[in-house]
Amino acid sequence: MAAGADAEVQTTYTIAHLPGDGVGPEVTGVARSCVDAVAARRGFTVDWRHCPLGAQHYLDTGEVLPDRELAALRDCDAVLLGAVGSPAVPPGVLERGLLLRLRAELDLYINLRPSKLRPGVPGAVAGHRLEDLDLVIVRENTEGLYAGAGGIVHRGSDFETATEESLNTVAGVRRCVEYAAGLAQRRSGRLTLVHKTNVLVHAGDLWHRVARAVAAEFEVALDYAHVDAACLYLVSDPARFDVIVTDNLFGDILSDLGAALTGGLGYAPSGNLNPAGTGPSIFEPVHGSAPDIAGRGLANPAGAVLSAGLMLDHLGQPAGAADLDAAVNAVLAAGPPASTGGWAEALLAYLAAGAALAGQSGGGA
Ligand SMILES: NC(=O)c1ccc[n+]([C@@H]2O[C@H](COP(=O)([O-])OP(=O)(O)OC[C@H]3O[C@@H](n4cnc5c(N)ncnc54)[C@H](O)[C@@H]3O)[C@@H](O)[C@H]2O)c1
Repeated sequence: MAAGADAEVQTTYTIAHLPGDGVGPEVTGVARSCVDAVAARRGFTVDWRHCPLGAQHYLDTGEVLPDRELAALRDCDAVLLGAVGSPAVPPGVLERGLLLRLRAELDLYINLRPSKLRPGVPGAVAGHRLEDLDLVIVRENTEGLYAGAGGIVHRGSDFETATEESLNTVAGVRRCVEYAAGLAQRRSGRLTLVHKTNVLVHAGDLWHRVARAVAAEFEVALDYAHVDAACLYLVSDPARFDVIVTDNLFGDILSDLGAALTGGLGYAPSGNLNPAGTGPSIFEPVHGSAPDIAGRGLANPAGAVLSAGLMLDHLGQPAGAADLDAAVNAVLAAGPPASTGGWAEALLAYLAAGAALAGQSGGGA
């Protein structure tokens, strides 16, 4: 596995391409071409493996996540996913049977959601400056209210009762906060725990105790905000945040707010990480399959390209990740293209020009 390997930088990566449905193939097609361009520039190679899963595959075959596809994914260094979903598939089939199951099977315990305002992108708040909004939300991805504990009793009666239980283990919280603290160490040294410790006193207490201990071990400054206040601060004073660590539900909600503040779904990247490297991590744009615009060449591939950047960083190719980030910024600075094809052309032209310059000067940018 690539992550965690420290002796030699790996030079060949096996990456599963799971394009999925709707605009998924369109945006990950662009991201894949950009990764190939960066690979040529940076001296590594990618062995792409196609993974057919998604709504169409389910409709054609009845399969959601068969064992052979899961085994094939396990054999890869990473997965680049577009989006899965179609109005023809009942809600929950793919969310639970494919996406949530992959998170559990591959132990993808971190959901990484950077929120960065980029040049030329109108954020939701007029007064935000680029330097004010460049943060990362680290969301615990396997526990909390999404762990599946709970149920319904007395169904159909007036006393029908539904419960959802939030599961928080010391080990699960600790590994999440450790990842976030490591990230904070590499960035500004600032880590903010977001929770609701004044009301959710049991889970909140566990999270706060673990966060204090881990922050001390990693020597990062720990701040705390209640989740409702964090929403307010993200809008009114986002510069107070750099790395946010939070539980599954709060992270899900906060990261969509982060996406809204930084240009919307089309620009938002994400990674579902197994930092321990015991399986491949999955990288995907935050948006869904967007059936309303699928096949019309209108999808913005920036979120997918930036997700591929997170993937290269995770695989130990930070210079390649920086190339993709710079390419997106350069295209935005020149005025965002109106079509997916226009984006592809502009990104690849930038990456090719960068490669030529690097070749002339005898080194990488
Ligand atoms: N991780 C995933 O695979 C994932 C995530 C969210 C939704 N979905 C699925 O996607 C399907 C559609 O869901 P939805 O409509 O609620 O959310 P969506 O993100 O697909 O679309 C919401 C809105 O944003 C627009 N949009 C999305 N991506 C865009 C892009 N790259 N460029 C320009 N505009 C873009 C769409 O046109 C639509 O108006 C559903 O089946 C849902 O279950 C999948």
